[in-house]
Amino acid sequence: MTNHRSEQEADALVVFGITGDLARKMTFRSLYRLERRGLLKQPVIGVAVDDWTVEQLQQRAQESIQASGEPVDAQVMERLAGRLRYVSGDFGDDATYTRLKSELGDLANPTFYLEVPPSLFERVIGGLYGAGLVSAGQRVVVEKPFGHDLASARKLAADLHQYIDESQLYRIDHFLGKMGLQEILYLRFANTTIEPVWNRNFVSSVQVTMSESVGVEDRGHFYDPVGALRDVVVNHLLQVIAAVAMEPPAGGDAETLKTAKYSVLRSMADADPARYVRGQYEGYRAIDGVARDSTTETFAALRLEIDNWRWSGVPFFIRTGKRMPSKQTEVRLVFKHPPRLAFIPSGSRRPEPSQIVIKIDPSTGIQMILDAQRADRKGAADIHLDMEFAHEGGEAATPYEVLLHAAIIGDATAFSRQDSVEESWRVMQPLLDDPPGVIPYAQNSWGPTESEKLLNGYGGWRKPWIVPTPPPGQRTE
Ligand code: BG6
Repeated sequence: MTNHRSEQEADALVVFGITGDLARKMTFRSLYRLERRGLLKQPVIGVAVDDWTVEQLQQRAQESIQASGEPVDAQVMERLAGRLRYVSGDFGDDATYTRLKSELGDLANPTFYLEVPPSLFERVIGGLYGAGLVSAGQRVVVEKPFGHDLASARKLAADLHQYIDESQLYRIDHFLGKMGLQEILYLRFANTTIEPVWNRNFVSSVQVTMSESVGVEDRGHFYDPVGALRDVVVNHLLQVIAAVAMEPPAGGDAETLKTAKYSVLRSMADADPARYVRGQYEGYRAIDGVARDSTTETFAALRLEIDNWRWSGVPFFIRTGKRMPSKQTEVRLVFKHPPRLAFIPSGSRRPEPSQIVIKIDPSTGIQMILDAQRADRKGAADIHLDMEFAHEGGEAATPYEVLLHAAIIGDATAFSRQDSVEESWRVMQPLLDDPPGVIPYAQNSWGPTESEKLLNGYGGWRKPWIVPTPPPGQRTE
């Protein structure tokens, strides 16, 4: 299959499912922000079953952007509205793809963005293929979930590979649009104070926390058959771990980067159900769409091992949950304990291990925690050296803004490759096959106390680095 278009900027963006929820919540706002930054140059063609006019689509775009809290500039909005076009049609009907083809006219390198459930991926991509729209390497962007276990992930890929090559498939993981792979790698490898200690000789454990204060709310029908492990661990959190644990890639091209990320996942041992704690917040079963006797987890804590020269013997602890005290995603390296300090008075507090925190949500930053003593104080205490990236570099782009732009220009580095998807499911599969019972936890808590036991000998979960919410103009989402 020829892929000569795969690295050229798209000449149109085609959004399947543009009348749906994801477009309302994320896509229009991201397109608006790209338009404002002068990065959107192509027509945006929406495709959906609804019998809408282009004016209705423009109206929906404007309302969605306003509802997101984004300040709207009339001129930018007008430019964006001018790019919108609409094709109405059933995704199961070949005539829809023929109409799309005639709407595209001379535009030969569209990027297709499928905001549709995975059960429709094959039909839509097959329809595009039938109309000759993806045979020259055009990109197709898809949203998770990529299967619900290892076997279904493999089947999904095989179904799609009938029509397009793996290099054409851009699997979005919006967590890598938060603090991107490039940014994490730069921090790690551009600093001689950091890289030499980023391994098992100095690090005792790694703690990854992704807590959310929101609950499942109106997503009961979607969430109940899925649960936390499938919703955010197998994708978002393993992708983040791969980025913080990988070796320095030997080049900046997408394939080299993806291979380095894959190597981390490949080195991970299968997860152990004895080191897995599942929780469910009180009140979850009363949600519309949730089974009254549901055993789905809304909280997951687990321990993973990466068996390679850099990380062997360093546990990677993950915890995530809904209805927890704050919205927070961070990766925390806890270093080894220093030895007893003979020069400090006996009976003094033992020095605490240093920590480095990479904060990914709700804003990005890095923190170092060191132990220090001041002459005018009685003893030592930990000091926190914090760097909020927004304070230095100003407002960040939103994850979907970053990833949509990358898809439009053909930068595949931030998207997940099938081999990594399969390795992630392989690691998680024992937990899916043999899950422990689910333990209730109080809303607004850090989950079941059983999750503390996972960290016996490692000093327990550290309290996440919570930064006061920045003023509206500086928010990253
Ligand atoms: C999604 C999950 O992928 O990520 C949601 O389906 C979760 O359940 C969300 O709330 C978290 O993303 P963000 O960007 O809001 O932190």
